[in-house]
Amino acid sequence: MTTMKKKPEDLRSSRWFGPDDLRSFGHRSRMMQMGYWTEEMAGRPIIGIINTWSDLNPCHAHFRQRVDDVKRGVLQGGGFPVELPALSLSESNVKPTTMLYRNLLAMDAEELIRSHPVDGVVLMGGCDKTTPALLLGATSANLPAIFVPAGPMLRGNWKGRTLGSGSDAWKYWDERRAGNITDEDWQGLEGGIARSYGTCMTMGTASTMTGIVEAVGMCLPGASSIPAADANHIRMASAAGRRVVDMVWEDLKPSDIQTREAFENGIAIAMAMGCSTNAIIHLIAMARRAGADIGLDDFDKASRVVPVIANIRPSGEKYLMEDFFYAGGMRALMRTLGSHFHLDCVTVTGLTVGENIEGAEVHDDDVIRPLDNPIYSEGALAVLKGNIAPEGCVIKPSACEERFLRHTGPALVFDDYPSMKAVIDSDDLDVTADHVLILRNAGPLGGPGMPEWGMLPIPRKLVKQGVRDMVRISDARMSGTSYGACILHVSPESFVGGPLGLVRTGDLITLDIAARSIHLEVDDAELASRKAAWQAPEPRYERGYGWMFSRHIKQAHEGCDFDFLETQFGRPVDEPVI
Ligand code: FES
Ligand code: MG
Repeated sequence: MTTMKKKPEDLRSSRWFGPDDLRSFGHRSRMMQMGYWTEEMAGRPIIGIINTWSDLNPCHAHFRQRVDDVKRGVLQGGGFPVELPALSLSESNVKPTTMLYRNLLAMDAEELIRSHPVDGVVLMGGCDKTTPALLLGATSANLPAIFVPAGPMLRGNWKGRTLGSGSDAWKYWDERRAGNITDEDWQGLEGGIARSYGTCMTMGTASTMTGIVEAVGMCLPGASSIPAADANHIRMASAAGRRVVDMVWEDLKPSDIQTREAFENGIAIAMAMGCSTNAIIHLIAMARRAGADIGLDDFDKASRVVPVIANIRPSGEKYLMEDFFYAGGMRALMRTLGSHFHLDCVTVTGLTVGENIEGAEVHDDDVIRPLDNPIYSEGALAVLKGNIAPEGCVIKPSACEERFLRHTGPALVFDDYPSMKAVIDSDDLDVTADHVLILRNAGPLGGPGMPEWGMLPIPRKLVKQGVRDMVRISDARMSGTSYGACILHVSPESFVGGPLGLVRTGDLITLDIAARSIHLEVDDAELASRKAAWQAPEPRYERGYGWMFSRHIKQAHEGCDFDFLETQFGRPVDEPVI
């Protein structure tokens, strides 16, 4: 039931189009220039649709048409839709890494909302960074907002075998490096692994983040698991358009929805989904923007109590997002989690989480497992601390070989990505399966942009011997579709003087996942003398966006937001007045 808190004359957009003055004459006449009657807009909520479509973003290829479905919904709801294109950030085509630009899209979204005559917004995103970026911007702008997730693409297929985004590319690449598959096979895989528009259909960063957004309450119930190519997706898009108009009248804003408890729901669902490690950085940034102080410890706490129950690759063995949807999708997963959820949080529907998931059913309990039959009894992520990572680092124990849960091995250090790449395939590399591969200068500043290099390739010599997992440590991230004993996000990063920069080849490193510890077996005095000799590298950028990025990016454990975008920074930005 819509509670009308706003009247037409209260609409923000009426400040542009309402007054009988010269400036408003200009605004109205220019809308008429596009063929609109002023009556089409007068007294109606104007809904900005922030569309991250581009010709180089295959995950959002359908957004060019799907925006029309959103518009149809807005019109049906009594609003007036306007499309505002934003930076597209294709994970598959942007170099060096989309993470370098997440905050740029966040600023893009925030300023698009602030500067234009809109009363509410629909956020169209899904490919990895687009989701947190749009949410970050909308959080700071704080107008009524609803997210429309792009939806996962169809399952991959090659010779009748199901292929999962990313995960199977890494897997078969190792087989190719080992000489086990032909060039023809490799080409077949290339054409079969991505068969429709939509986001990666493993539990990568895209599905992780859209699932989190649903758990936080910022999209329609069930929306995040609908495959992009399913007709349900079209109906979801128009329903979101209809709903946001009511949200404007109800004055239901992100700040009413995104409470600390809502973010705790996001963390719980992340664990249950067997989430991408990237979720940590994005969720911390989103929560901090919303004024909720969420940190690594909240993730670790949840990981000890929430089991992984979504049996989706790469944490799960068999299934993909399409199977998850058929098994009941996100609503069923949330309902299964039950007491791990704050059910009274308000969502974009105006109803609580508990009300949204009422009646949700699991249709296949091998895909969405009951709590007492999880695929991994602890959560998807573990936060480790120790002398090599004083502010923490993360690992996805559910996706690594069990023998590495407790391990000591000698370090093999690479100072940067190119020097690693130059030797990793050489047959005389002095390395064993027990070695700990270290990559540094790959963090937020060092990468730059903290690229997804954290799943370092297994040295070819070992791949040929059948080795498929090793301990790897870096200040980089890894793709949500990656797997293995990869310790990531070491904070502070080596580029700014973090202790990862002090490790030398041959030093012993011990990790103990159960104890949540990681330790460089070098005494403090020796580390202090190495630190005294350490020299800061040259800055990466001297102009442009990179220069600004370098000066303002925060470390991984703080969410990698820009300091000046955080909620507590400075006084609020004024609404446009002229
Ligand atoms: Fe877009 Fe994976 S490349 S979601
Ligand atoms: Mg990814």
